[in-house]
Amino acid sequence: MTMGELICDKVSKTYKTGAIALDKVSFRIPTKGVFALIGRNGAGKTTIVRILATDLMPSTGNATINGIDVVKEAAKVREFVSIVPQEARLVTWVTPKQMILSYLMYRGFTYKDAKKRAEAAVKRVKIEKYADRKSDKLSGGTKRKALVASVIASEANVLFLDEPTTGLDPISRAELWSVLNDLKKDHFIFLTTHYLEEAERLADHIGIIENGKLLAMGTLDELRKKIKYEYSVKLLDKNEKLRAPKHSKVVIGLDGSKQILTSQKEANAISKKLIQKGVRFSTSPVSLEEIFYYIVKRSINEDEEDGSGGEYGY
Ligand SMILES: Nc1ncnc2c1ncn2[C@@H]1O[C@H](COP(=O)(O)OP(=O)(O)OP(=O)(O)O)[C@@H](O)[C@H]1O
Ligand SMILES: [Mg+2]
Repeated sequence: MTMGELICDKVSKTYKTGAIALDKVSFRIPTKGVFALIGRNGAGKTTIVRILATDLMPSTGNATINGIDVVKEAAKVREFVSIVPQEARLVTWVTPKQMILSYLMYRGFTYKDAKKRAEAAVKRVKIEKYADRKSDKLSGGTKRKALVASVIASEANVLFLDEPTTGLDPISRAELWSVLNDLKKDHFIFLTTHYLEEAERLADHIGIIENGKLLAMGTLDELRKKIKYEYSVKLLDKNEKLRAPKHSKVVIGLDGSKQILTSQKEANAISKKLIQKGVRFSTSPVSLEEIFYYIVKRSINEDEEDGSGGEYGY
C-alpha cells in the first residue's frame, strides 16, 4: 500500500564536488499532518527536500509520494507538490498578491482563477492588509507569510517548507505556527527547522538527520522510547553532587546544568530523595532538544559510555 505515504528507499546524493549529502536515507510516513526534519547545518535537510520536491535528482535510491515516483513521474508529482525553498525571497518591487498571481499563472491557472485564489490565500495567512504593498516595505515575517500563501494558493496539498521561520521574532513565529496548524488539516507539510520547540509543537512525526544519515524517526514519544530515557531530572544548582542510579545517565546540558535521564519510575524515586534532601530540581518528560542533543552527540561520539553510576554522588 503506497497511497497516502511518503516513501524514501535508500536515497543517496553525492554532489559533483564529491560531498556526500545523503547516505541511503530510508523511511516511510503518512502524508498527513506535519513532518519535521531536524539536523545540524549541512546535515542534508535541504538536499532531501529538493529531491522530494523534484528539484534535484538523487544519485541512487527511490522516493514516492502517494505512490508517485519523484524521478520517473516528476511532472505528475509537481501537480500536487509545492515548495518554499530555504533561500526563497520576494522580489523587492513586487507585492505579495502580484507574486502569488504570477506563481499561480506559472502553474497554469487562468488570471481570474489565480486572482480569486491569491485573495483567499492572503486572508488565510492573515496578511490581507499588506497584500498590495511592495515587498521592500514589508517586514521579514510578512514576507515569509506571503511565501507560504503562494504555495497554499496552488492546488498542491503536499507542501515543502525549508526553514520557514528562520530569522522571525517569537511573535511572528508563533503566528506562522498557527497558520501551519490550520493548514495541516488539509495539507501534508514537510518542514525543516532549527527550532526544536517548533518541531515539538507542530510535528506529528519527527526525523533526525546527521551527516547525511537518518538517525531516528518517529513521534515525540517514540523518540523518547528510542533513547530509552523518557524522563529528565534537572538540578537547578550546578554544583550539586549527583549520582545516576542504574539504567539512567547523567548528562551535562548545553547550559552546563546537570541532568539525569531516566525512566518515569526512576524519576519519581529520585525526585522523592531530592525533596527529602532539600535539593532544588525540576523534572519532566525529555524534550526534543534533549533527545536531539543526545542522539546527535551519540552519533558523533559512537564510543561514548552508556552510564550507570557516575562520578557524582547524591
Ligand atoms: N549544490 C551543492 N553542491 C555541492 N555541495 C552541496 C550543495 N548543496 C549542499 N551541499 C553539501 O551537501 C551537504 C548537505 O547540505 P544541505 O544543504 O542539504 O544541508 P542542510 O541540512 O540543509 O543545512 P542547513 O541547516 O545549513 O540549511 C553539505 O555538506 C553541503 O555542503
Ligand atoms: Mg538547508
